[in-house]
Amino acid sequence: MLVEQKLNSLLELINTSTNDELIWINGYLNGILSKQVTGVKLVDNSAVKSAVKKITIVYGTETGNSKRLATDLASKAKKLGHHAKIQGLDQYRLTDLSKEEYLLTIMSTHGDGEPPLAAQKFYDFVHQNELKLSKLKYSVLALGDSGYPLFCKAGEDLDGQLNKLGANRIAPLQKCDVDYDIEAGDWFSKVMHALNESSQSEPSLFAAPVIKKTSGKKIYTGKLLSHVNLNDIGSNKETFHIEIEAEDVQYLPGDSIGIIPENKEELVEKILLISGIDGNTNIDFKDQLISVHDLLKKKLNILNLPERVVKKYASVVQQEIPSTKIDLLDLLKIYSVKDENQFTEVLKILEPTSPRLYSISSSPEAHPGEVHITVAKNCFAINDELKHGLASEFLSLLNEEDELKFYISPNNCFRLPDENKNIIMIGPGTGIAPFRSFLWERDSNGASGKNWLFFGEQHFVSDFLYQTEIQSWVETNLLTKIDTAFSKDQAEKIYVQHKILKHGAEFFEWLQAGSYVYLCGAKEPMSFDVEQTILEVIETFGDRSKEEAKQYLENLKEEGRYVTDVY
Ligand SMILES: Cc1cc2nc3c(=O)[nH]c(=O)nc-3n(C[C@H](O)[C@H](O)[C@H](O)COP(=O)(O)OP(=O)(O)OC[C@H]3O[C@@H](n4cnc5c(N)ncnc54)[C@H](O)[C@@H]3O)c2cc1C
Ligand SMILES: Cc1cc2nc3c(=O)[nH]c(=O)nc-3n(C[C@H](O)[C@H](O)[C@H](O)COP(=O)(O)O)c2cc1C
Repeated sequence: MLVEQKLNSLLELINTSTNDELIWINGYLNGILSKQVTGVKLVDNSAVKSAVKKITIVYGTETGNSKRLATDLASKAKKLGHHAKIQGLDQYRLTDLSKEEYLLTIMSTHGDGEPPLAAQKFYDFVHQNELKLSKLKYSVLALGDSGYPLFCKAGEDLDGQLNKLGANRIAPLQKCDVDYDIEAGDWFSKVMHALNESSQSEPSLFAAPVIKKTSGKKIYTGKLLSHVNLNDIGSNKETFHIEIEAEDVQYLPGDSIGIIPENKEELVEKILLISGIDGNTNIDFKDQLISVHDLLKKKLNILNLPERVVKKYASVVQQEIPSTKIDLLDLLKIYSVKDENQFTEVLKILEPTSPRLYSISSSPEAHPGEVHITVAKNCFAINDELKHGLASEFLSLLNEEDELKFYISPNNCFRLPDENKNIIMIGPGTGIAPFRSFLWERDSNGASGKNWLFFGEQHFVSDFLYQTEIQSWVETNLLTKIDTAFSKDQAEKIYVQHKILKHGAEFFEWLQAGSYVYLCGAKEPMSFDVEQTILEVIETFGDRSKEEAKQYLENLKEEGRYVTDVY
């Protein structure tokens, strides 16, 4: 208990702190308590001043979260009096590594347990095993999503490898889930505490990583309200507008939802039949009893198994199996299990189904208690047989009233600017989704900024997603400008980048007037082509050299005025 005077001081501090500051204070206190240091003053300027250190904060990011955290932490470190340098790992001079004194790395995991593309060179360099880093003091903050089988793998690997190379860990690896702010604040306080300690003596070094359990994200249960195929007869595509009701849901325009898809009943039945196990048999999964049927249907990935799982399967059935990706049913057909018990062993080596993300296309202001998404059915062929992606097919087959579990994956790098700022939205295909959210939000708020949308698809007649809504926004002047590109409506292909170039002079004027540019949709090749075109626009209509155009775009990125959410 606190005496009244202390309680009043604490309440004053809380009342005058921003949300970010409260998170930081929470982390700071956790850091102190976790090290069981007593009698430490929360704000001891003399201790902070005496601990001035040169630290380098590097980040490896794909979607911007690590960068945002790194920037935030660098500014807090500076406020505490440290000389903090911040750099993206794509820009980092590898030869500097052995010269660093303190290196704080914030890195996410992407793909199937891989580092972000921008961090790959650094990651490979560190994994060469030839470096000697005994002078380096470091700590790693790993961002990830606990829904993936290889949770925070890239950060975890980096932490282990730096240690293997002789570097000294000053604070344990911290793994963070999608709601990372509290854990990141906690990690930062531990790091700062270690730096401060080192002014009196050597910092305490952690021999082995202590990985703190993450707080876990909120899982919502939603009910499907409606479900419409936005493509018309004659289209090559199926794109579903799905509305989900979830009373207490909280999100911001720009966020996505994560869902864990279920496997098809027909496939589960085939697996049960071939393995000879009774689907009702209960087995222990993550400390809970669950039937084999439900485990196969709702929890485990049984499609396109990664090579590491195939290797484990080979060891369970004691057969030679080539290293390749393959469905569980095909494995069972070719390399059969001996009996029910052996199949139970197989269940233990299967990994959980990875989540799939979908940009939210509704607005919290316009659609309270609801989340809308825009899902393109993923199609591919194997040996001439047409197949569909797991999650997009699962979502496409849902019926009204069906329940759906999901979580919010925030994207703080993809936010609407102040309401009076102008925005340019480039969103072909399902890239339109967050812009539907932006436009509904701006409509509800009466935002005064101008809005320019670029949309593209194959055919005007069958593929103009949200055509009616878009046309009504043009009529009410919410949409100041709209430019569409229907690639297959004429002999030559026309894409959104062609429309951007066509309106290059005006596009550049909007940039000069301080507009924010958003790009969403397919990463390859769309996002690369659009970026090239924007550079061309800056060069041609801004009368800049190639180098100057690059710098212009870099500046826009730095100011948060050119942001992408591509997949
Ligand atoms: C931030 C973010 C936002 C996104 N927003 C949207 C959005 O708004 N709308 C949208 O439609 N999508 C969106 N996506 C993409 C979405 O998350 C999924 O990746 C997409 O729907 C495909 O998932 P799926 O489960 O249907 O396909 P998957 O089952 O994951 O299949 C993907 C590919 O893997 C291969 N494959 C799959 N199964 C097999 C198999 N058995 N054998 C061999 N090969 C196989 C095929 O090449 C297939 O095309 C977003 C992604 C991200 C990261
Ligand atoms: C396509 C995709 C694949 C991902 N794969 C993994 C993974 O294998 N393991 C993991 O822990 N997180 C994974 N994540 C989650 C990201 O690491 C997480 O969203 C993180 O906050 C992203 O940080 P960044 O914006 O700095 O890249 C994945 C995310 C996406 C979109």
